Amino acid sequence: MAESTLDLRNEPKDRAYPQLRAHMISVLAGIDDDIAGMATMSALVHHAFRHLWTGFYRVVDPGLLRVGPYQGTVGCLEIAFGRGVCGTAAAERRTIIVPDVTRFSDHITCDPRSKSEIVVPVFDRGGSLIAVLDVDSTRRAAFDQQDAAGLEQMLRWFADEGRG
Ligand code: SME
Repeated sequence: MAESTLDLRNEPKDRAYPQLRAHMISVLAGIDDDIAGMATMSALVHHAFRHLWTGFYRVVDPGLLRVGPYQGTVGCLEIAFGRGVCGTAAAERRTIIVPDVTRFSDHITCDPRSKSEIVVPVFDRGGSLIAVLDVDSTRRAAFDQQDAAGLEQMLRWFADEGRG
């Protein structure tokens, strides 16, 4: 099993994400457990890019997200569907990129150092929404379509692609 944490800050994103995904698949080889996957993915993504906050909000009831495995300072515990960036991404089942959180009227501030973020929905093998991945940065406009594509590809692990 690969143990090391990659540092991909100086890699172009189109090369960084495939490397990160390959590393993740190798680290998670033989594991069929969503929480282990969320914890490992949070650590890998967070440290590879040195983000401010990287983690999952899980769907625990219809219309309710609760914090799951994450890296960073203490996150909000629960977020209703439709609230904040996470709740909006969950309700609309789509990736949301926020280049400037001060311009997202319903942004939930857990850490005032957060300047931009991306939230990506996570689906299981049946296509049900099980969580969202929230990644926050201290830089404005830190995330773009390459992050969306790279993270969406990694998160297909939960729908079985490349799993186990
Ligand atoms: N940024 C999120 C809130 C969660 S924390 O930042 C960890 C949002 O507005 O959905």
